[in-house]
Amino acid sequence: MTSRTTTAIDYVEDVSPGSGALPPRAWYPSSDAKSLSLNGSWRLRVSPTIDTEDDSFAAEGFDAGNWAEVTVPGHWVLQGDGAFGLPIYTNHLYPFPVDPPHVPTENPTGDHLHVFDLPEDWPDLSDGGAVIRFDGVESCARVWLNGTDIGEFKGSRLPHEFAVGHLLKPSGNVLAVRVHQWSAGSYLEDQDQWWLPGIFRDVTLLHRPAGSALDFFVHASYDHLTGEGTLRVDSDVDGRVTVPALDIDVPTGESVTVPVEAWTAETPKLYDGVLATDGERVPLRIGFRTVELADGLIKVNGKAVLFKGVNRHEWHPVNGRALDLATMREDVLLMKRHNLNAVRTSHYPPHPAFLDLCDEYGLWVIDECDLETHGFTEQAWRDNPVDDDRWTPALIDRAARMVERDKNHPSVVIWSLGNEAGTGRGLTAMAEWIHGRDTSRLVHYEGDWNSRDTDMYSRMYASHGEVEQIGRELDGGTHKRRELPFILCEYGHAMGNGPGGIADYQELFEKYERLQGGFIWEWIDHGVRHPELGYAYGGDFGEELHDGNFVCDGLIFPDRQPSPGLLEFKKVIEPVSIEGADTAVRITNKQDFADLSAFAFEWSYQVDGETVESGSLSLPALAPGESADVKLPEPADGRGGGETRWTVRALLAADTNWGPKGHEVAWGQVPVTARTVPSVAATDGPVAGDGVITLGPASFDARTGELKTIGGLGVSGLRLDVWRATTDNDEGAEWLTGIRSAELWRKYGLHRMRHRLASVELGDDALTVRTRVAPAAWEFGLAAVYRWTSDGSRLRLTVSVGPEGEWPVPLPRLGVRFGLTGADTVKWYGGGPGEGYPDTKAASRVGRWESTVDGLQTPYLRPQENGARADVRWAELGGLRVEGDPEFFLTARRWTTEQLDAATHLTDLTAGETVWVNLDHGIHGIGTGSCGPGVLPQYQLRAEPAEFSFVFSEIG
Ligand code: GAL
Repeated sequence: MTSRTTTAIDYVEDVSPGSGALPPRAWYPSSDAKSLSLNGSWRLRVSPTIDTEDDSFAAEGFDAGNWAEVTVPGHWVLQGDGAFGLPIYTNHLYPFPVDPPHVPTENPTGDHLHVFDLPEDWPDLSDGGAVIRFDGVESCARVWLNGTDIGEFKGSRLPHEFAVGHLLKPSGNVLAVRVHQWSAGSYLEDQDQWWLPGIFRDVTLLHRPAGSALDFFVHASYDHLTGEGTLRVDSDVDGRVTVPALDIDVPTGESVTVPVEAWTAETPKLYDGVLATDGERVPLRIGFRTVELADGLIKVNGKAVLFKGVNRHEWHPVNGRALDLATMREDVLLMKRHNLNAVRTSHYPPHPAFLDLCDEYGLWVIDECDLETHGFTEQAWRDNPVDDDRWTPALIDRAARMVERDKNHPSVVIWSLGNEAGTGRGLTAMAEWIHGRDTSRLVHYEGDWNSRDTDMYSRMYASHGEVEQIGRELDGGTHKRRELPFILCEYGHAMGNGPGGIADYQELFEKYERLQGGFIWEWIDHGVRHPELGYAYGGDFGEELHDGNFVCDGLIFPDRQPSPGLLEFKKVIEPVSIEGADTAVRITNKQDFADLSAFAFEWSYQVDGETVESGSLSLPALAPGESADVKLPEPADGRGGGETRWTVRALLAADTNWGPKGHEVAWGQVPVTARTVPSVAATDGPVAGDGVITLGPASFDARTGELKTIGGLGVSGLRLDVWRATTDNDEGAEWLTGIRSAELWRKYGLHRMRHRLASVELGDDALTVRTRVAPAAWEFGLAAVYRWTSDGSRLRLTVSVGPEGEWPVPLPRLGVRFGLTGADTVKWYGGGPGEGYPDTKAASRVGRWESTVDGLQTPYLRPQENGARADVRWAELGGLRVEGDPEFFLTARRWTTEQLDAATHLTDLTAGETVWVNLDHGIHGIGTGSCGPGVLPQYQLRAEPAEFSFVFSEIG
């Protein structure tokens, strides 16, 4: 037996957090002390294995002239077109053997080199005052400066500082960083995302003058009873704290109480201050607020808050998790403009600048630690690091690095221990450490269903039914848990088309006090920009293990265009509700803190979707929770003719830092008079000709009864259609039932229905075509009767559908589809402007809309059913006008459903000459079966007798 020799690379598999780094402390972007960004072009050499003990590259004078150049911050697998390796995506499986704390010998290792000079205006550093700070390196790094080994660390999304003043030279400093893709730390970082090694956040050299600040803790509470704030800044280095706007000038460690405006996510009032020590002036941005657990609720400034949140991973389609400030700001602005008020930094502390933005613009933050050990679930959680004392120092180090870095952000109201790490003593130790260090915030962890260590009961993807039970406090659980508020830290899985059913969750959140809202999973699709595929997802880089497009489940696309899911969420979580009947609207302020003075209200009156009058509506500045009934003005042209409705909108009354004056935050529609459905007097009868039947403006194939033309327009393949290109939610296994709709639909052949022609009947006033539509191998089916009538110029089709046999599954859709040529512009009156399905159409607004066919498509990264417009009264495209009785769902695309279904990436879809149009009487809902509950019963499309009509005419 040979014994293993200790080598200089043992730190990689060491469960400790590392050695050499300074204690964690508060992070601030700048002060009057000098700093030097070391971001930029670095030299890189990637070895497929750890290059054992050869650290010669770190020595001064090493010639890296033939090494590649990469950009820091960055991930080497996203640079160099694959020359340095490729990204790997797994959800929870470790992409290496589970053999903790060991990692593969094939451990891609990036040796990084950067040579820098000190700027001329830098002071003399002979007093030793400088640190080098790494804000994020995945997953383990060893650092040398000018040939001296200064330490090594793990904890990818956490900062690490090293004292380097004694090593610095005025010029020619050589910073060498060896980064290992895999390390013991990787076992703690099994988040559902791409594995992306590299120095992906800033590297900064900070001058630390004598007497400069070390760590400091800004305590700024708010007493909602007195309206006063109390400020105390505890600082490792004594100094003074000034806040000019509040006339505050006190020594550190001393409390001062003054009247203030509180900080909330709705009213993010920040006071500029300064912490001045002998050697440094550190700018402070102070927000006064008090977070507490009171009366079983999460309260801020004495009020229970309702989280309308999202889980945010850091993502950029080109740069991965290396985000620049502009991208971070874009995320925050998009969130604010879509009515979100909260963000969970799943599943690691974000770049610290993101939290500055949350302070500034106003978002409640659950700051989550960089911890997930989900892959251990595959071995029944045996050897889980969070339940093994040897790992506890690393866990506490991670908790401390997060808390110390981020503790001065008013936006951070809750600390989260991490995600999906099972349960264990290590988590308890983290919670105890955090509670001990910061009594001013609450602690969250979803895996702790008994709430042993946490201050709230949190779950992910619980069904509506269960959430309602929890809301009614009928869920049982430990005594402690029963006393706690509830949040859904993840729900509404936004993968592909969806999420469906979020309005139904919101109703529950608003109904039961204990339910304090939730966080949609997740913010952005992690698609990687790819030259051939458009956006790549799991498997596209040839990974041996991967989870496909499960990494694309965001409310925004990789290019940050909002998906319909975000627009739906925006509507569902409006800060103001506008509901009404007939001549009045009830306006309710659904905010927790602010009155309605930031909003202006406008009404408009539509006849058949055309606005004929509009004006402004004045309203009292309702306090949070208050409602007012406001009478709408009687329209001047009376109520005669057509379908009429009011639309009332709430707009920003003035420019804010996140949205311009006039930006719409909420809207509601009040129907007045109903539409008259189209009627066609059956005055014409079908006439048989040579192989052709004519009826009014239309011609049919005499043998098959198939519609051929309407006036001068060719129509192809019109028939009953029940299939849709399955969505990610259809493909998923619903959590409650285990049902995969897509699998069942395919098993029962709904994608290969056969149409048997039973008869073509020419009556006096109608052409009737009887068919039976059914899949091979099964006895169930649909009797489908097409009844055509005409008044000479218009053509009416009435489809009657009767299920036969026992239908084992709901229908994906029920309607007709046909092909048209030459269609480009589409106009319609009905729901829009975006897509809407039965359980995703809160944001679908009745009006007149216009789009191109291409503009109707939603570019879900994995192509799937998309783009239906709901509640359509009539539509015009390709010279054809279609009116529905009743309203219908409209879909038009340049490829067939079968082509859409077969595509794996958008680049697989090529437009043909024909535009395929679906007019659906019904569509099965969307649900969130990709991760969570399926389609709620009320949104399922069951096979039931149905009758629906369309009136077709050629546009003159
Ligand atoms: C959760 C997990 C997330 C993500 C999501 C599915 O279980 O916390 O990280 O994997 O499921 O997309």
